[in-house]
Amino acid sequence: MNLVITIDGPAGAGKSTVAKILAKRLGYLYLDSGAIYRALGLLAKEERVDFNDEEKLVKLSQKIKFLKLEWEKELRVYLGEREITKDIRGEEAGRWASSVSRHPKVRKALLNIQRGFLANGNVVAEGRDMGTVVFPDAFLKIFLVADLKERARRRMKDENVPFTSENIERFSELIRKRDEQDSERKTAPLKKAEDAVEIDTTSLTPSQVVDIIENIVKKKLSFK
Ligand code: C5P
Repeated sequence: MNLVITIDGPAGAGKSTVAKILAKRLGYLYLDSGAIYRALGLLAKEERVDFNDEEKLVKLSQKIKFLKLEWEKELRVYLGEREITKDIRGEEAGRWASSVSRHPKVRKALLNIQRGFLANGNVVAEGRDMGTVVFPDAFLKIFLVADLKERARRRMKDENVPFTSENIERFSELIRKRDEQDSERKTAPLKKAEDAVEIDTTSLTPSQVVDIIENIVKKKLSFK
């Protein structure tokens, strides 16, 4: 049986950076579940599908079977032949993703694509509901948190936005709102699984966080 390590948490807590390094170090596959919702959000925006129209979004989600997540040095995301890596990044695309991901039927339609990753090898899976819904029997569950201002700064760095106090306030508010929407939805809300290990990454480097997780993995594997 292949193993899954889940990494969940709010926006900007360091999930993607940590998940990628961890997957590389362990030689596991990397599942960026946010990229799946972001791709659907992009499609909905481009095809002018109302974010409240659950049935149309479910239909649109059938196109996600053409999604390819290629990962060597960087994650590259394709829909069929079209590369959408850049189109799905940034807070705006995050907001679209959060809006389409609220719907229970949309989440259900995308479940098998996510679980399918496990057929190909051990996986580090990153998102909001990896440990609670998608992989409830995961080998190890991690929940990353960090202070809001620090999370805002990380997102601004990703998007090359200058660190003015005005921008920090603006990004903090965008992130806070997205987390609120993700935490308050009825289906698969952002929340820590009961058996998850919580790590506060505010004053840690990604490599320090990965060291902590790797040590837990090694200990667990030696007891297996
Ligand atoms: O992690 P990322 O910022 O790429 O996620 C974008 C959005 O996709 C989140 O704000 C959330 O609404 C949604 N998402 C989700 N479940 C996941 C991963 C992401 O609902 N497992």
